Amino acid sequence: MKILAIESSCDETAAAVVEDGRRTLSSAIYSQVAEHQKYGGVVPEIASRRHTEQIVQVVQAALDQAGCTLSEVDKIAVTAAPGLIGALLVGVNYAKGLSMASGKPLIPVHHICGHIAANYLAHPDLEPPFLCLVASGGHSHIVEVRDYTDFRIIGRTRDDAAGEAFDKAARAMGFPYPGGVYIDRAAPLGDDSKYRLPRPRVEGSEYDFSFSGLKTAVINLLHNASQKGETVDRNALAACFQRAACEVLVDHLERAAQAYGYTTIVAAGGVSANSGLRGRLGEMCARHGYALYLPPLELCGDNAAMIGAQAYYEQLVYPPAGLDLNASASKGIDTVF
Ligand code: KG4
Ligand code: ZN
Repeated sequence: MKILAIESSCDETAAAVVEDGRRTLSSAIYSQVAEHQKYGGVVPEIASRRHTEQIVQVVQAALDQAGCTLSEVDKIAVTAAPGLIGALLVGVNYAKGLSMASGKPLIPVHHICGHIAANYLAHPDLEPPFLCLVASGGHSHIVEVRDYTDFRIIGRTRDDAAGEAFDKAARAMGFPYPGGVYIDRAAPLGDDSKYRLPRPRVEGSEYDFSFSGLKTAVINLLHNASQKGETVDRNALAACFQRAACEVLVDHLERAAQAYGYTTIVAAGGVSANSGLRGRLGEMCARHGYALYLPPLELCGDNAAMIGAQAYYEQLVYPPAGLDLNASASKGIDTVF
């Protein structure tokens, strides 16, 4: 079954054709990052406008690269939540239009489920159940993936998401937006024990995360140094921040895996591209003899192939959406659209 998938939840306009949830026939991405960079973050209004301008060409590019026409795909999938509402609406409305014009069924997909499903495209042997660390710009979750469409969150962030913390800390250090990848590049050049940074815990919850204290510690350290006229070793600060963030992510995941009895561990989302996190996950899983699945770098960030992968499993279980489908900025991972 060929699914044409559309993703427009943030600042990437993306479309892909995916076969049977496992094979990427094409994946087209128009990134707006360069434009948002000058504002230090995504400007929602600009994002919506660029999606509107780009979506026709991006969908056509995905069909062309896959060597098929709209009439040759079986179903149409779209990210319906969560994300920037104006951005989501562009994809949802375009997908509804394509569905109505072609008569092909419409499959709504949750963005986080899509990130998890990116792993199905890269790892043919991966099947639920498994425990997944989802770390992106908007979310930090420890998710029990009990089946392809059955998710249970056992840990989540109480404040900033992991990627958000990376980006805010990077901004304070003077790196461009989005800063996660710049911290990743600087970290191996610095001493990761030079500065003392906290490992924040959440009172009363073993698996929840809190990253705002870590981000604030970086900002305070830079502020205090500048007031005293001291220079900060930016590579070392990047290394210390990355170590602290990754230690917390992997430590919580490790305890969750032990408590819930999972031996298959998966990572997903933009932050799973982080070399420190990948290394630390590898060590933890090797220590316990767990099987570890990491998405290839090109599937960590936002793309539409991951939406097409998850859509395949959604349509096996749920009926198609009607033309009354709406986008939602904040619906949870267990949403039935
Ligand atoms: O999953 P994603 O592309 O978009 C959301 O759904 O949010 O994640 C984007 C986030 C950004 O915060 C970005 O800085 C972070 O992923 N990111 C990284 C790396 N590459 C992307 N963070 C740390 N290290 C990286 N190599
Ligand atoms: Zn994402």
